[in-house]
Amino acid sequence: PFTKHKIFTCNNFYLPEFVAKSLEKFKQFQVRQDDIWIVSFPKSGTTWVQELVYLIENECDFKKATQDSIENRSPFFDYPSPGLKHIENIKTKRIIKTHLPYCFLPDEVEKKAKVIYIVRNPKDVTVSYYHFTNLSTQAQFTGNFYDFTKLFIEGKVPYGPWWSHVNDYLAKKDVHLINYEDLHTRPFEVIKELSKYLGKNLSDDQIKSIIDWCSFDNMKKNPAVNYEWYKELGLYKKNGHFFRKGKIGDWLNHFAVDDSQKIDDIVEKKLQKKLDFNYGIC
Ligand code: PPS
Repeated sequence: PFTKHKIFTCNNFYLPEFVAKSLEKFKQFQVRQDDIWIVSFPKSGTTWVQELVYLIENECDFKKATQDSIENRSPFFDYPSPGLKHIENIKTKRIIKTHLPYCFLPDEVEKKAKVIYIVRNPKDVTVSYYHFTNLSTQAQFTGNFYDFTKLFIEGKVPYGPWWSHVNDYLAKKDVHLINYEDLHTRPFEVIKELSKYLGKNLSDDQIKSIIDWCSFDNMKKNPAVNYEWYKELGLYKKNGHFFRKGKIGDWLNHFAVDDSQKIDDIVEKKLQKKLDFNYGIC
């Protein structure tokens, strides 16, 4: 059902072709002591955390944050563009985004670098991912939402299975975990903990200004982060937005009852640690 990219299996993960082709190069990539790696299963809130980390690292230099796109300020490791050579040549401290499962990361990432992992409730991930496959001209999916959910439940969407992706990072003690729903409901504490992890001590006012800058509405209209330029590049279709809803609980508008139950079973039986997901039912 994915019409553009072939999907490959490797170590029991389903990978897009552009990832599967580069696995050896990924392993050999030279990690630096001061790298910050932002890792997630797709559609878990990566972009939000990329902007937070950039601002924390640059002491709330909002002007600087508008001067270059988010993909230049924290490049995507997995994709051939800008490419590993480009990332290797960055002279300043690097903030690197990846969706790679832990087993495909460069060998020294956990030992050397800071690693932040973002997790989001899997039902909203499914909804966001499904919409994204329709927005992207690269990952087109020909089925409907139920077909996509079935693949998600079988673990066969790109970068899946979701539970293996999450489990492998939850098992690492030095990985800093951020929960998308916590970022919604208690952003101050989450950002404070994150800055502490990054070795930065921000004032309360700085944290408040970051929360405001990174609100869904502000990021959606910020041309340095909203990926609207992908439309000009032909990578996204014109009729949709990367910043779609940004909510907890949109799955309630999409999911069939038995699929919802199947995902509850996955969370209960396949996740090796208990995560308190906020599904937005309150
Ligand atoms: S990607 O393509 O995998 O890197 O996408 P990713 O950034 O991980 O996830 C995109 C979803 O995160 C939502 N998002 C936000 N929600 C709330 N606040 C902020 N600031 C924010 N930034 C991004 C984005 O809207 C996508 O979720 P959905 O549910 O599709 O709206």
